[in-house]
Amino acid sequence: MGILDGKRILVTGVLTESSIAFAAARLAQEQGAEVILSSFGRQMKITTIIAERLPHPATVIELDATNEDDLAALPERLGGNIDGIVHAIAFAPKDALGGVFLDTPFESVSNAVHVSSYSLKAIAVAAKPVLNPGAAIVGLTFDATVAWPAYDWMGVAKAALESTSRYLAKYLGADGIRVNLVSAGPLKTTAAKSIPGFEAFEDVWGTRAPLGWDQTNTEPAGKAIVALLSDWFPATTGEMVHVDGGLHATGA
Ligand SMILES: NC(=O)c1ccc[n+]([C@@H]2O[C@H](COP(=O)([O-])OP(=O)(O)OC[C@H]3O[C@@H](n4cnc5c(N)ncnc54)[C@H](O)[C@@H]3O)[C@@H](O)[C@H]2O)c1
Repeated sequence: MGILDGKRILVTGVLTESSIAFAAARLAQEQGAEVILSSFGRQMKITTIIAERLPHPATVIELDATNEDDLAALPERLGGNIDGIVHAIAFAPKDALGGVFLDTPFESVSNAVHVSSYSLKAIAVAAKPVLNPGAAIVGLTFDATVAWPAYDWMGVAKAALESTSRYLAKYLGADGIRVNLVSAGPLKTTAAKSIPGFEAFEDVWGTRAPLGWDQTNTEPAGKAIVALLSDWFPATTGEMVHVDGGLHATGA
């Protein structure tokens, strides 16, 4: 018996086996869920190939989080009601990352916020007609309550995501829909590798995380996502659960 038995879950953001969303999809299937993946554009092919490495088959549907047609078609593409959504989507243009904070043009900031923050609201609202009562939405952040080296406007986009999740929790609570975030420590995924200077975090986590931290292991984040999707957090919404080896709780 699994904690997601009988649930249908949309998992966005599977790009490679190292994607946090891949761990979430694998663990969700292991816990009894039917998983539907979403991808977009040229990445659709890659996601379809990677999906074959999951324990069970998973349909891949098209969902560019910034495309209004994809959003409008989401309920139909899902082919039935769902019980949860994993939002594992982020993007920022090169000139918004890596120590260029003071020079980033607004267009790039707007792009980062559209894909990485507003998309949580856009997907939640698009899927709302097919979200069952008791459904859970889980997103991923990199704790944006402080300023990090290199993270720049992605940090600002994450702050917006964190606030968006609290407002969604407020507006969707009456429908019995929970909205929570997992704040993961640094993991060597495609998105992380595209941030110049992201290596700087390795030393910080290596020396400061009380439980230690393995940047190649997405399973702890995946487990937290699955737990939040399950019925075992029935009264938790608008929350941000740190899965960072405890680093957030230390001062130096
Ligand atoms: N890797 C880390 O260190 C880390 C830490 C904390 C939080 N996160 C967050 O975890 C989430 C997943 O990222 P990841 O690290 O697994 O990297 P990843 O590169 O595997 O996943 C990022 C995903 O975003 C998707 N994406 C980008 N633009 C999109 C769009 N317009 N529409 C739909 N999908 C789009 C990509 O297809 C990709 O699948 C992101 O929100 C990321 O910010 C990552």
